[in-house]
Amino acid sequence: MNVKTVMVVGAGQMGSGIAQVFISAGYDVYLHDKAESQLEKGIDNIKANLKRQVDKGRMKQTEADEAFGRLVPSSELEDGSKADLVVEAAIENMDIKKDIFQQLDECTPPHAILATNTSSLPITEIAAATLRPKQVIGMHFMNPVPVMKLVEIIRGLATSDDVFQTVQTTALSLQKKPVEVNDFPGFVSNRVLIPMINEAIYAVHEGVASVEDIDQVMTLGMNHPMGPLTLADFIGLDTCLYIMETLHDGLGDDKYRPCPLLRKYVKAGWIGKKAGRGFYQYH
Ligand code: CAA
Repeated sequence: MNVKTVMVVGAGQMGSGIAQVFISAGYDVYLHDKAESQLEKGIDNIKANLKRQVDKGRMKQTEADEAFGRLVPSSELEDGSKADLVVEAAIENMDIKKDIFQQLDECTPPHAILATNTSSLPITEIAAATLRPKQVIGMHFMNPVPVMKLVEIIRGLATSDDVFQTVQTTALSLQKKPVEVNDFPGFVSNRVLIPMINEAIYAVHEGVASVEDIDQVMTLGMNHPMGPLTLADFIGLDTCLYIMETLHDGLGDDKYRPCPLLRKYVKAGWIGKKAGRGFYQYH
């Protein structure tokens, strides 16, 4: 199948980044969010990022204008009736995702592929909310989407080979590196990353070292671009906790138990950069 028109559901940090890479690669994109303010914010973000590409000489002004011209703001999920591929990047909540997928199943054309950018929820369960589980797949982008090369492509139990191949080809056309993963909690990326972050939080909790020093060990000692606690703030501590809980519920082992300090920070509303405070303070 030849994908031409894409709908991205959710105009937050991930959704707007995903829309940006699709328009930059020549796709027509409906960017949907039911919250008007979030939609405006997402579009402003894309505009600013395209401008930066022009300023850095990586894109001509005409290319940026053409890309931006391919972006259509959408407040109605029914705009999915024009989509060949939908990438859902809404909040990490199974009930909300199931509801969105049921609606998309009704309003998108029969050939459309329904992908989710979920960071850890089971694709198979989301697919079961539709009448087209063969056409449901995980397409997991990393943050910041325009910069990070990886897209994890997750097959649900029923995902067809044709759909997998179409999504793989599409990811390559975005200049991303697709990696095939089976449907297990946290896939590969977050099964490895988030327990490492959780362990760094345990190190703070147990007084092993300061926040800054733990981060320095990992940046200077392991060449990570960001220390785990800076990265946790960047991802959002609420998201980190949600993923740890998904790993704990799905895999059962006590090694996935969220650190009590992580729970405490989330309860305090210190959920990272987006809240102005996490392990660090942001002004
Ligand atoms: N959107 C778009 N571009 C961005 C950006 C953003 N939010 N943040 C940074 N960039 C761009 C910058 O503009 C810059 O581009 P140029 O080369 O054109 O100047 C480039 O990225 C490098 O940025 P900086 O020089 O400002 O800073 P840096 O060298 O420290 O890089 C970083 C920033 C790319 C974010 C780097 O710190 C990094 O790779 N951090 C780790 C990110 C990571 O691990 N992401 C995965 C998170 S987990 C996830 O996404 C999965 C999940 O489900 C939770």
